[in-house]
Amino acid sequence: MSGDAGPAAGGQSAGARRVIDTSVAHSARVHDYWLGGKDNFAVDRAAGDTVMASYPGIVMSVRANRAFLARAVRFLATEAGIRQFLDIGTGIPAANNVHEVAQSVASSSRVVYVDYDPVVLLHAQALLTSSPQGAIDYIDADLRDPQTILHRAAQTLDFSRPVAVLLISILHLIADHDDPYGIVRQLMAAVPTGSYLTLSQAASDIDAEQTAEAARRYDQLARETFRQRSRAEVLRLFDGLELVEPGLVAVPRWRPASELEARAKSAIWGGVGRKP
Ligand SMILES: C[S@@+](CC[C@H](N)C(=O)[O-])C[C@H]1O[C@@H](n2cnc3c(N)ncnc32)[C@H](O)[C@@H]1O
Repeated sequence: MSGDAGPAAGGQSAGARRVIDTSVAHSARVHDYWLGGKDNFAVDRAAGDTVMASYPGIVMSVRANRAFLARAVRFLATEAGIRQFLDIGTGIPAANNVHEVAQSVASSSRVVYVDYDPVVLLHAQALLTSSPQGAIDYIDADLRDPQTILHRAAQTLDFSRPVAVLLISILHLIADHDDPYGIVRQLMAAVPTGSYLTLSQAASDIDAEQTAEAARRYDQLARETFRQRSRAEVLRLFDGLELVEPGLVAVPRWRPASELEARAKSAIWGGVGRKP
């Protein structure tokens, strides 16, 4: 999609074609740009470059976040034995999508993806390639309406059995007035004991000056506003849950696969909590 010729993928719905807005940066497409993808427009690359100019660490941050996602899903599928995943804020497919990691451990894993971006919707077909033993669904919905998500996800997930709710790099796009704490509470109220919350969120207290300036500039160019949060604010999202080791840490420090991985810089907090 690079080059602004418009969506290259065929077969998209008329609705999706209508609402792709190339006049303002969208988080899914900017994120894709930072990850080295091609599904972005000039406006997204401009926003991405503006952030990189204030905070060059952003590219390493988002790549470390993606690696955290893969390690966390592997932990959930192996050590925690989770077979159902609700991934809200899926993003444009990249390496190690949730179903790829989960079904590589247990082919019967069931995954529901949720995003509100029409470009992600265009890629839903690619996301929906399940193992024959498992199941995958894609829901075009807004995190700010968690009850709709839960209602539709129940067509694929059995909410009487444990579910891992994934909110990876999405909550900093939810403003305080949209009540991120209430949203997380509603999602976790719907899943039984033994379920997990896995989340990552941009930090306000790592490389604070640079990242605040980057966020301020991003807000001038993007559709969603960017709300960084401190470690204490992110910790509150896990209220009522038991954090698994090593707790809430910068994402490279969450069960890194190597010393090298642990030493990466990232201004993103990440953690995994279990519902007791
Ligand atoms: C920064 S990307 C993260 C993608 C992926 N989770 C990852 O970490 O690689 C944020 C994603 O959340 C989606 N998003 C943002 N606000 C949303 C909302 N209110 N409802 C649903 N999706 C949302 C965006 O469209 C985008 O795809």
